[in-house]
Amino acid sequence: MLEVDLSPELATKLTHLPILVTGGTGFIGSRLVARLQRAGAQVTVLTRDAQRARQVVDDAHFVTDLQAAAATAPRAVVNLAGAGIADRPWTSSRRRILLDSRVALTRQLRDALQANPPDVLVNASAVGYYGTDPQRSFTEADGPGSGFAADLCSQWEEAADAFSTLGSRVVRLRIGVVLGPGGMLARMRLPFSLGLGGRIGHGRQWMSWVHIADVLGLIERSLTDEAFSGAINATAPEPATNADFTATLGKVLHRPTIFPVPAFVLRTLLGDMAEELLLAGAKVRPQQALENGYVFAQPDLEAAMKASLSR
Ligand SMILES: NC(=O)c1ccc[n+]([C@@H]2O[C@H](COP(=O)([O-])OP(=O)(O)OC[C@H]3O[C@@H](n4cnc5c(N)ncnc54)[C@H](OP(=O)(O)O)[C@@H]3O)[C@@H](O)[C@H]2O)c1
Repeated sequence: MLEVDLSPELATKLTHLPILVTGGTGFIGSRLVARLQRAGAQVTVLTRDAQRARQVVDDAHFVTDLQAAAATAPRAVVNLAGAGIADRPWTSSRRRILLDSRVALTRQLRDALQANPPDVLVNASAVGYYGTDPQRSFTEADGPGSGFAADLCSQWEEAADAFSTLGSRVVRLRIGVVLGPGGMLARMRLPFSLGLGGRIGHGRQWMSWVHIADVLGLIERSLTDEAFSGAINATAPEPATNADFTATLGKVLHRPTIFPVPAFVLRTLLGDMAEELLLAGAKVRPQQALENGYVFAQPDLEAAMKASLSR
């Protein structure tokens, strides 16, 4: 499923390249590290816990502080680290953790690498950058929206952009909801399998999804292709409404999806987080990726779900 092979041209560019990955033990990062290593890159993972990281990712070089990370003189950095956005309600202390684990870490990374800056930084961001809107479609040319997720992404991207002043090419990947083995689909699988899945609220909110094979593909292209620069939407070409997403998941799992999750319940339980992540969304188009000739491995939602749930 993830074995969308790297082209020989890309693999050659990655061979022996010293790459620093933060968040390399996560859902996206662990798969990225495995692929980069298969391509022959020299991968270092900056982690908070090297012992735990070793159980997640084989064979990489692990560091737990920024000085040790800088000592590896990375030519490329992939910055994915951050506390889980959807793991807990957004209390004020949780918001501080979400911000610090991304914005403060990115600033510290820049300070640590400024004496020997990388050629390229590929920094994660999210479609939350655009805020939410029931109708409009967004491309990379659009500015930030409002709300906590938009503020978080704006600040994170600003911290990443500061690498430009060091001469690094900076790619800010605005990632949609990632489908793959694990992640959000794994959380949805049990209720849906029990026939308890249903649309969220009115179901007309947009979900700009992307399959993990394409997140990895876009990171790899960003690392090796100088045409990739600035904001790049990492979303599939055809976003879905929540109602379509729900119906497709029901179809893939051969289960009915007749129980809508009422908006007021989510608002009561989760506050702003429910509003920004579940009850509203944004229709985001991958204009830059398509203009740069990126060919999506998984452009079709049903096929992407089947590939994600097949193991
Ligand atoms: N998955 C999605 O649908 C999605 C969508 C849009 C954007 N993104 C963004 O893309 C990035 C990677 O996503 P992911 O799904 O792979 O994330 P993930 O599975 O939650 O992994 C994130 C990694 O960040 C590190 N981390 C966690 N809490 C931290 C903290 N408090 N301080 C510093 N580091 C911390 C952890 O590495 P260690 O434990 O090794 O330190 C963890 O493995 C995230 O920043 C996420 O916001 C993801």
